[in-house]
Amino acid sequence: MSVVADTTGADFPTLSREGVVYLDSAATSQTHRSVIAAMDDYYEHHRASVHRGVYPLAVEATDLYEGARDRAAHWLGAHARGTVFTKNASEAVNLVSYSWGHANLGPGDTVVVTEMEHHSNFVPWQVLCERTGARLAHVPVDDEGHLRLDVLDELLATGTVKLVAVVHVSNVLGTINPVQDITARAHAAGAVVLVDGAQAVPQIPVDVAAIDADFYVWTAHKAYGPTGIGILHGRPEILEAMPPFISGGHMIASVSLDGSRWADIPTKFEAGTSPIAEAAGLGAAVDYLQGMGMDALRAHEQDLTGYALERLRGVPGLTVNGPADAADRGALVSFTLDCAHPHDVAEIVARRGVCVRAGHHCAQPLMQRLGVAATTRASFGVHNTREDVDALVDALGDVITLFGD
Ligand SMILES: Cc1ncc(COP(=O)(O)O)c(C=O)c1O
Repeated sequence: MSVVADTTGADFPTLSREGVVYLDSAATSQTHRSVIAAMDDYYEHHRASVHRGVYPLAVEATDLYEGARDRAAHWLGAHARGTVFTKNASEAVNLVSYSWGHANLGPGDTVVVTEMEHHSNFVPWQVLCERTGARLAHVPVDDEGHLRLDVLDELLATGTVKLVAVVHVSNVLGTINPVQDITARAHAAGAVVLVDGAQAVPQIPVDVAAIDADFYVWTAHKAYGPTGIGILHGRPEILEAMPPFISGGHMIASVSLDGSRWADIPTKFEAGTSPIAEAAGLGAAVDYLQGMGMDALRAHEQDLTGYALERLRGVPGLTVNGPADAADRGALVSFTLDCAHPHDVAEIVARRGVCVRAGHHCAQPLMQRLGVAATTRASFGVHNTREDVDALVDALGDVITLFGD
């Protein structure tokens, strides 16, 4: 299996640092050099605000900003008009829960989430239900780490479900959920669907049009892009009908002492000065991923995940969470070791430069389902190799030597 990206540091400057084995791309990916260059280019050559100016710098900045929106939308098969820049995936979910949720939910309605949601796609719905009097129901996870779609069907059959919120790729189990099928079932029952693609977009080919969800959210900092910018792809008709989330400058058509009218989408949802450098960086990240090809990226990462599953299963006292087959999972593996707490595991392997994440991964309902307080998670990016997996397994040997019987 070929490595799809240069690991010498030419592509990802941080990785040129001696002794770093970066296995935490699911938390945040490394920044690709072209992304840094695109942001520098904005600051050094095109610095101006977008949309308002008519002088060349402002026109160039607007082209950078809108060009990034067009490329991101086109890449994933979404409408540019329905593509809203947000701060991150969390803000994109909050935009929908506040704007769509408050306008459409009340007592007697049900919002369905799943037991494997990241808090970002769980807490906003919990808060919304508390405020509107709607009921929050959940789809459980089975012992293999898959969603119980029979329970989803039972919930949908009540006729009360207004919205289903589901993660595309779980950040703990790695499970790739059948979001197209879930969307079709929910739509047949008259429910709106939001898919959290924060892990999916950088890890697997995603076709927003084929999935057909009403809302699809993701975040640039996990997709080799900058921090500070995320995306909400919404069905244009539904976004048009929604009230603004954050109001103020830029998102208006006109303002008078008597009232205001809103700008068209997507501007209606982009109050204030835009994250222009971040959008330029996001556009470069899209170009990078598109140039590599998501099929090639997926093949590389699936190979690494399969190899990691095989090697980790050979470690005494280690339990892997989630589906057994790499074909059913994204590029991450979370696990527990009998002899040591996940935080101790992360700390000991870090002594060999291996960077993994330990904790509840912002998925406490799932931790409760798994019967653990925390896990250790290794996640893979385009730059990782089988040697990185070997380094993790060798370092786990240190943990067993220290903490084992
Ligand atoms: C599945 C999932 N959803 C949402 C998020 C939140 O992303 P952000 O921090 O960019 O809002 C994360 C981040 O860890 C995630 O893994």
